Amino acid sequence: MCVQNAVFNEKTQLEFVIFSRAFGCKDRAAWQGVTQEALDRRTAWIMERVVSEDISEHMNKVYERTAEQCAANQAHQFVIPELFEFVSLFNDGELVLDMGCGNGRDAFFMCSSDQAYRASVMRSTVDPSTMPTQALRVKAIDASAHMIKIAERVAKRVDASGAVRLRYPPIFKQADMHDMSGWARLQQGWFAGVWSCASFLTHTPRQWIEPTLRQIACLLKRGGIFAVSYTQRQRDGGYDHLKISSTGEINYFSHPDPSEICKLAAKCGLLPIRPPRTSDYVGAGGDVVQDLFVTQFFRKEM
Ligand SMILES: C[S@@+](CC[C@H](N)C(=O)[O-])C[C@H]1O[C@@H](n2cnc3c(N)ncnc32)[C@H](O)[C@@H]1O
Repeated sequence: MCVQNAVFNEKTQLEFVIFSRAFGCKDRAAWQGVTQEALDRRTAWIMERVVSEDISEHMNKVYERTAEQCAANQAHQFVIPELFEFVSLFNDGELVLDMGCGNGRDAFFMCSSDQAYRASVMRSTVDPSTMPTQALRVKAIDASAHMIKIAERVAKRVDASGAVRLRYPPIFKQADMHDMSGWARLQQGWFAGVWSCASFLTHTPRQWIEPTLRQIACLLKRGGIFAVSYTQRQRDGGYDHLKISSTGEINYFSHPDPSEICKLAAKCGLLPIRPPRTSDYVGAGGDVVQDLFVTQFFRKEM
């Protein structure tokens, strides 16, 4: 660790470039004065001085440090409506992969056939009898060992309580979605579906998009479904964003353009099955970012 790094007790190369090189901060107090606007102005400069591995390493450390906070965050307790649609596309017992599963919320939704439970994790009030009854077998991966521990802890609790019936217990595994080659080779064509919410394309360095889409296509059976939800490019911005979070962490967000994703997916044999669907971000203070979230559904060519 270099001298500047020691001042901050920094853990990642990205933090070193931001704190010490872009802003010349000698200590934490100096950093406190840096605003989001100033960080936005320096982002392109910072990005030229780090590589994709630095970004990935940084986000992994951030999630390791904040896993308990993320898992406990009330704003993250609900599944998105598109998960309901995703599950409806499969027969009972089909195998799907959840990439960047976090605390396993979506994996539990997919593995359970319990309509009342499924209705209880939808944000708006829904009639449980409208929930799908088929359950899926789920393999769920996350790069953060801490997140996987939390998901396994929740699975044990759910199992022991007997309150939620998981027809097929999910399998959680620590793995990097941008480098699945080690185990994915063995599981080519195994999955009927791949799901990723707020993970792939949310924290993905641009040059890793196409290789990851290619791996997803390899993992899917012919005709398999890939659904991904992420924060998309806004009118004012390009790729690569650094955001200071409420906990003081600096998060990297990709913010790709959905039409670019469509083109890259098509190159990998993944064809859109309906137009991208967007929804708004509504902050705790009532602030709204229109169409920030986008969900896209693709089918692997037959
Ligand atoms: C915002 S959380 C979303 C978690 C969950 N999908 C949800 O919707 O609640 C992002 C998750 O992606 C995981 N993640 C980020 N980069 C990853 C990578 N390269 N491979 C696997 N997981 C990753 C993080 O560890 C974190 O758990």
